[in-house]
Amino acid sequence: MDLFTAISERRSIKHFNPSHQLNDAEVATLFEQALLSPTSYNIQHWRFVRITDNKLRQDIRAAAWDQAQVTDASELVLICADTNAWQKSPERYWRDAPQAAQDMLVPMLQDFYQGREWIQRDEAIRSGAMAAQTLMLAAKALGYDSCPMIGFDQDKVAELINLPDDHILVMMLPIGKALKAANGRGGQLPLQDVVLNNGF
Ligand SMILES: Cc1cc2nc3c(=O)[nH]c(=O)nc-3n(C[C@H](O)[C@H](O)[C@H](O)COP(=O)(O)O)c2cc1C
Repeated sequence: MDLFTAISERRSIKHFNPSHQLNDAEVATLFEQALLSPTSYNIQHWRFVRITDNKLRQDIRAAAWDQAQVTDASELVLICADTNAWQKSPERYWRDAPQAAQDMLVPMLQDFYQGREWIQRDEAIRSGAMAAQTLMLAAKALGYDSCPMIGFDQDKVAELINLPDDHILVMMLPIGKALKAANGRGGQLPLQDVVLNNGF
């Protein structure tokens, strides 16, 4: 599937075939592709929690207004992000780069995030969202569908997965075989309302 087709055919699907499973190679492909998403200073804040335990899936569904895709999709991925990733052994983000680049970038990234809590959080969300879109398009390319979700009790789900204090839940992503197509699109804003030339 070419990229433009994947972009236009990706829709948020609510009805998944509960008996379909992704095989291990497909799951590995999805995450390998997600890891190639861009992040500021290559910090890769994302942490992906796969929910494979049926009871935990049921508990998460209960915390997500009983939305069926939480239990019916083949995979349920909780896309989390570490807001403190910028200061946890940052040299690993540039370990394959030439020494001169490492010497410049590692202190630079620490200066950029040090003491700026709001941008530490923004960056974690940006990274998680980048990965989410890659996962959704990669799933589409493999013949699967997905549904990005933030409709759940964040505190409850955080408790269920033992989310560390310095991590955030970016979104939940069920992935699987669609049983029913999405409804028509809600309505995309016209280009002229959202594309601006040289400022507002
Ligand atoms: C961050 C985010 C959270 C969303 N949360 C939910 C959700 O909890 N439940 C749901 O059914 N759809 C959810 N959606 C899907 C949106 O309603 C959907 O993306 C939007 O209506 C556009 O439709 P499309 O994705 O089919 O193009 C969410 C989408 C995003 C990006």
